[in-house]
Amino acid sequence: MKTVVVGGDGRAHVLAHVLARTSDVVATPGNPGIASIATCVATPPEEIDGDLFVISAEAPLVDGLADRLRAQGKRVFGPGADGARLEGSKIWMKEFFAAIGIPTARHGAFDDADEAIEFLKTLPGGYVVKTDGLAAGKGVFVTRSIDEAVADVVDKLAGTTFGDAGRRIVIEEEMTGPELSILAVCDGTRVVPLTPAQDFKRIGDGDTGPNTGGMGAYSPVPVAGKDIVDQVLTTILEPTVVELCRRGIDYRGVLYAGLMLTPEGPKMVEYNVRFGDPEAQVVLTRFDGDLAAFLAEAADGELLTEPRFTDTAAVTVVLAGEGYPASSVPGEVITGIDEAEQVPGVTVFHAATAWADGALVTAGGRVLDVTATGSTIGEARRRAYEAVARIGFRGMQFRSDIAGERTGVSS
Ligand code: AMP
Ligand code: GLY
Repeated sequence: MKTVVVGGDGRAHVLAHVLARTSDVVATPGNPGIASIATCVATPPEEIDGDLFVISAEAPLVDGLADRLRAQGKRVFGPGADGARLEGSKIWMKEFFAAIGIPTARHGAFDDADEAIEFLKTLPGGYVVKTDGLAAGKGVFVTRSIDEAVADVVDKLAGTTFGDAGRRIVIEEEMTGPELSILAVCDGTRVVPLTPAQDFKRIGDGDTGPNTGGMGAYSPVPVAGKDIVDQVLTTILEPTVVELCRRGIDYRGVLYAGLMLTPEGPKMVEYNVRFGDPEAQVVLTRFDGDLAAFLAEAADGELLTEPRFTDTAAVTVVLAGEGYPASSVPGEVITGIDEAEQVPGVTVFHAATAWADGALVTAGGRVLDVTATGSTIGEARRRAYEAVARIGFRGMQFRSDIAGERTGVSS
């Protein structure tokens, strides 16, 4: 089978890495890491022939790329623009949750600052302010201070920081509890959860500082046993697919449930319409089977295979550039990837790298995803950090507590 991966981020790299075990992979545009395991081309996906197209990121899905490829008769794993609204508009997603009673935070949607501030005053504890549109995981501000919340409302609605994505906002009450990512694969009518993962969203150790696209992840997740996955499947994922069908939306792709395990039970933070990044790095490295065939079944609307995962654990530590998440510094020379990959179980996925004058350099905010497997979370974590210590570039930042205390695993 010839599989075409559309994308060039770290998640595209892990997709290519696992798909290449059982299929011939072409990536567009790909990246320097993908180029070492597959063919990378600059050609748009509409002009490539392939047996299966896997779209890595949300923006092209929201923009209707899956629809355009399907209109050409191509077999595509990824929802059309109608289903991608689950991620493309938080307001649409919240309305969808309300329509079918999916548990989520109390919220309101606003484009007027005064009304938004009045609503903030009615919330009991912490405040969450989100852009309606896509903001690469960075459009969410969580605070316990009403003054900071008000300032963020004014900033987002003014369009200064997030442009049009922030001209409408969602305000939510703060939920508390461990976060969990359940990535599920949907074939239009059937939805199958993959092994759970946990992501570390804030830039700093101990969950401090601003939200990012994700600074690390691990899988499996000790707090998320089969009972929780089953509960999420029957109370959230399956009702979602029934409602999508009722609305005439034939959803074939990833339904990524971002959850919080609150004292009142699992509640939805959000849906994403693609694999999580860096959750895909820890979930897919543990996939045990033919990923290309599995995703092709979903793309065909005939998902029959039960996904299996290895008994190993996986940990990813993201290496970000100076200034991330506010900014990024391109062009810093990266060293040590080959040495890092000498550590047993380690693969270094490229998230934003480029070649410049014969040197591998940084090319964005999240640069590398150092991923290790091991027989336990503790072993995978030690390996990941041993590998991280071998890599360097100017301004490199990473969290030192990925898969640490929160997992209940001691070092
Ligand atoms: P989102 O982009 O909606 O996934 O939000 C990004 C991150 O912000 C989430 O993963 C949470 O860490 C945090 N967050 C979002 N909404 C809430 C909420 N209502 N309560 C607490 N934290 C939240
Ligand atoms: N890691 C969070 C995301 O992929 O949105």
